[in-house]
Amino acid sequence: MKLIKPDKKYAESYYRAAEIYKEKNIKLYEFFDMPFEQMAKYTEDMEKGKNLPNGWVPATCLWFVDEQEFLGEISIRHELTENLERLGGHVGYGVRYDKWGQGIGTEMLRQAILYIRKNLPLKKILLTCKDDNYGSIAVIEKNGGVMQDKIENVVDGKKRLTRRYWIEI
Ligand SMILES: CC(C)(COP(=O)(O)OP(=O)(O)OC[C@H]1O[C@@H](n2cnc3c(N)ncnc32)[C@H](O)[C@@H]1OP(=O)(O)O)[C@@H](O)C(=O)NCCC(=O)NCCS
Repeated sequence: MKLIKPDKKYAESYYRAAEIYKEKNIKLYEFFDMPFEQMAKYTEDMEKGKNLPNGWVPATCLWFVDEQEFLGEISIRHELTENLERLGGHVGYGVRYDKWGQGIGTEMLRQAILYIRKNLPLKKILLTCKDDNYGSIAVIEKNGGVMQDKIENVVDGKKRLTRRYWIEI
């Protein structure tokens, strides 16, 4: 399993994964909802900090794949904003629904940390997750995450407790 830039070879299984997230109403991670060519340009630009939506920072979007299929997506923001410090952090990820609980999230974050070490000037990264997202908590802690605190956020009008973790790069 490896991390790659979005690649057309895996686009079909990427869109299937996004569709299943929609069907299951999973809103903890959003897949890009645009045709592949547009997405490839959008993510390339985003990495270079070009044409960013208001308030966004440059970010690297990577797909986790095996020989055949898309398994998960991870987005690495190159810097933090006040909002990302509260919710979002440096790294966001989602594993394909039918692949949960097979160690893929843990391995994807492990490889992302190696990617950051090699390619970005970050010395430590912030990861945030919902206080009851046990899968994500395990993924972060298995990768050496140290909890800083729990803070209250309001998301879609609802109060939410967010854990904030740091991982040394
Ligand atoms: C969170 C998520 C990335 C976890 O990925 P995953 O591939 O299922 O995680 P892993 O298989 O590597 O599991 C890591 C550990 O978490 C545990 N775990 C996974 N899901 C769990 C759950 N719902 N409850 C309790 N433990 C869970 C696993 O048992 C495993 O522990 P173990 O190795 O001791 O058995 C995945 O569920 C997902 O994509 N969720 C939706 C998006 C999301 O929540 N993104 C993170 C936002 S902060």
